[in-house]
Amino acid sequence: MRLQRRLTPFVDPLPIPGVLKPISRKPRFTFYVVRMMETFQKLHRDLPPTRIWGYEGKYPGPTIEVWRNEPVRVLWLNQLPKRHFLPVDQTIHGARGNPEVRTVVHAHGVVSPPDSDGHPDAWFTRGFRETGPFFQRRIYRYPNTQRAATLWYHDHALGITRLNIYAGLAGFYLIRDGEELSLNLPRGKFEIPLLIQDRSFNRDGSLFYPRRPQPASPGLPDPSIVPEFFGDTILVNGKVWPFLSVEPRKYRFRLLNGSNSRFYTLRLSSGQPFIQIGTDGGLMARPVRVQSLTLGPAERADVILDFSNFKGKTITMTNSAPAPYPDGDPVNPRTTGLVMQFRVNRPLSSRDTSSIPRRLSALPPTPLSRVRRVRNLSLVESNDRFGRLLLLLENRRWSDPITTRPRLGSFELWQLINTTPDTHPIHIHEVHFRILNRQPFDVNHFNRTGKLRFTGAPVPPSPDERGLKDTVRANPGQVTRIIPHFGLTSFTGEFVWHCHILEHEDWEMMRPYRIVRG
Ligand code: C2O
Ligand code: CU
Ligand code: CU
Repeated sequence: MRLQRRLTPFVDPLPIPGVLKPISRKPRFTFYVVRMMETFQKLHRDLPPTRIWGYEGKYPGPTIEVWRNEPVRVLWLNQLPKRHFLPVDQTIHGARGNPEVRTVVHAHGVVSPPDSDGHPDAWFTRGFRETGPFFQRRIYRYPNTQRAATLWYHDHALGITRLNIYAGLAGFYLIRDGEELSLNLPRGKFEIPLLIQDRSFNRDGSLFYPRRPQPASPGLPDPSIVPEFFGDTILVNGKVWPFLSVEPRKYRFRLLNGSNSRFYTLRLSSGQPFIQIGTDGGLMARPVRVQSLTLGPAERADVILDFSNFKGKTITMTNSAPAPYPDGDPVNPRTTGLVMQFRVNRPLSSRDTSSIPRRLSALPPTPLSRVRRVRNLSLVESNDRFGRLLLLLENRRWSDPITTRPRLGSFELWQLINTTPDTHPIHIHEVHFRILNRQPFDVNHFNRTGKLRFTGAPVPPSPDERGLKDTVRANPGQVTRIIPHFGLTSFTGEFVWHCHILEHEDWEMMRPYRIVRG
């Protein structure tokens, strides 16, 4: 039975995930072991404990904190039950004939060798009893030679990622470096990661995930994947609508949208701005003040909130993004329109000596003049053999041969041509990129002729997107131009790019690509 009674918001304190302790720390590498385990966890005061799957038995998983150039190895262990507790559709890619519970871990935004990237077909079952066709190694290697950034790790098994992440398999992965440290940003207990996700619950406190689309047309398999999932409650760090008691001072928050399909447009009821200092790929050139922040699934924003003028006040972080985004149903201001609350009710424990420097970092250049290759990559709607909506990249399926082979060290220009009515958060593994611009085009003309006819001028990225990205919102009826750099810290080999709406990624909106020798 689906829970009908509304849960009371802001009754539970915000949990802050602990930092993962290494097994050993040697000059050659730091070694971690992370087990995936099933447990029960209280997600709200008035809910019985909920069955979850978590890294180290925790949802969210413990935060992995590393330094730039610190080599890390992680043994990811699957200790999950044999059966999934969420409805597994056996008709979609990767699910047919494979074990029901399979996992593989991707460190999102981390530049890693292809055998450690969490390729969707490199899955493994409990105790590595069975492994997927791309499985190569048990212990993953992360060189961490990239700049400081807010990254995250999560499940990536083919055809079941949406269920594994929904079950709780996600955590933060933070890279720090000397540049960031020298900036004197708020840190220690004044630096907090916020993982934002939507969930629905059954009356017994268990997670609700739809078995089939509603209404289900005749002939649909049971279970059957849904085109998108939107929960009716918002959780931050695994608690429903939590609150955080804060001091009247500056805090740094690492915002991450870890939802399956939901976008968020965040605002603060105090009217104060988010002082954004970073994007997916780390620090921006300089801070920007924005009244609202939109985050599609997998996007991050590194922000500073200054509570020093709000002593005694209660500030609500709200969401106003329709679902689906951008033209779907408006949020309910009493439920999905709420995210969390900040209560400025703690005395100052010490003087706030942190600062917000005017210059943060030099962004690596992404010169258009060095682009050697332009790729037109379309996002299209189609139907599968059950008549279900099927979203494709380049009109190709996951199992079609590789068509994208960028050279190591090169810059490319990717034009994401979105012919669908929804925004898709497009993520490329292994690289970071800058957004060049977005330009509206005539979708009907493109569908008929395959040619681009523009209907307006190119629009530069919004201020909150002017940094390094690994996930970009490709809006409907627009060409989104990005400049990925398959830079020298990248590796050659097979990686993937995909839509980060998990229901899309799990059902063909994902393509392999290969970085080849330059
Ligand atoms: Cu966040 Cu391919 O994933
Ligand atoms: Cu990734
Ligand atoms: Cu999508």
